[in-house]
Amino acid sequence: MSILESMMPNKSIAAALAAAIITMIPVTAIAQEARSFGLPDDVAFAERLWESLKDLRLVGSRAIIAQPYEGSEPHGVILITLDTELEVDGREDTVIVKKNYGGENISIESVATNPNLFLGAITVMFRREEGYDAQAQNWFWAKYSADGSLQSNPAGVALAGRISRNPEDGCIACHQFAPGDDFVFLHDRFAPLDIVTASVSAEQPGDTVTGLAPLAVQPSSSDLEPGLGVTYYRRIFNLIDEVSAFALNNPGVKGAPINVLDYKSGSADVLTSGSADAVGAEIRGVINFAQAGVYTLALESNDGVELSIGGKLIVSDPGVHADRFSPLVPVEIVEPGWYSFEMTYFEKQNTATLRLYWLPPGESGGLKFVPAQALAHLRE
Ligand code: HEC
Repeated sequence: MSILESMMPNKSIAAALAAAIITMIPVTAIAQEARSFGLPDDVAFAERLWESLKDLRLVGSRAIIAQPYEGSEPHGVILITLDTELEVDGREDTVIVKKNYGGENISIESVATNPNLFLGAITVMFRREEGYDAQAQNWFWAKYSADGSLQSNPAGVALAGRISRNPEDGCIACHQFAPGDDFVFLHDRFAPLDIVTASVSAEQPGDTVTGLAPLAVQPSSSDLEPGLGVTYYRRIFNLIDEVSAFALNNPGVKGAPINVLDYKSGSADVLTSGSADAVGAEIRGVINFAQAGVYTLALESNDGVELSIGGKLIVSDPGVHADRFSPLVPVEIVEPGWYSFEMTYFEKQNTATLRLYWLPPGESGGLKFVPAQALAHLRE
């Protein structure tokens, strides 16, 4: 006998009450869901987000025009989507802006020539700080009208914030099905690593990098010291080329060698530099490919990075950006042995990330950090 039945003489009332309680559960759940967006903080954040978008000319009357394309439900007939890095409240991260165009006689040409005439709504995803909405990749969602005012759902709740797992108003409810687990439909560029690695087995690698030259004279173990050598340049850089140019005329400061490139330091020090911001680094050494075959390499970085191995460019992501992954880069090794390793990196401000992964030939599963025993520098 349930507690309800023991308290109620009339079983049918107890049953009805129990049923009511059960049917109330989803109602409460929805009420809680509704509080995940449209709150004063959400609305205020959305206003600051709009101002930043305007400053970068992603919205507003002076907005940049990009190539329109035909979209799918529910967003509009013709769409323009742009993504970039954007600073809001002193924190920079990825933003995706999608403009939805509709109206009579609309065509790609008419939108391209007169975008403001057909602009309906602007839907925006902005990546917030870690912990904002861990289950949904920390995206902040907002839907604006062309003039920048927030749109509302039928209940009058402003569309800004963690909207929502409830199918009735939900960005997340639909975007959770986007491939790659990044909640983005158009591509998987923002996918988390385990998803990126999943595509290793998908037999769709990018162009294989070939022709890497091993060191002409292979070093013996007594020629080598553990870890990659690193020289730091304390300065605000915005592009990788600025680091290389600056390093030509400045000695820099040698740092402690880097044994494994596994840095995700948040706002703490950048690599072994002892500084939290405004750091450029030239990371030089050798890398050991112990077997012939195709290695899959990937870099995760924030901010700019460029990597060449054996004289071949492997990854170039030269500008300021939030944490993101390079594509998976298949690298063909013909002769096992030591290869030159030249990486240039900088971090401008706030968070810093630099991680190097590989999957050796013949192995399957996820990528792993390139291990310490495969990285070294020549004794001077
Ligand atoms: C019913 C499903 C659905 C809902 C609900 C939905 N979207 Fe989308 N969204 C899509 C699809 C599908 C795309 C792919 C582009 C297209 O329309 O062709 C997309 C694309 C986008 C993009 C471009 C990035 C990407 O994922 O490709 C943004 C930004 C976006 N939506 C924002 C929003 C916001 C903000 C909301 C809530 C106010 C929302 N969406 C609600 C289905 C949905």
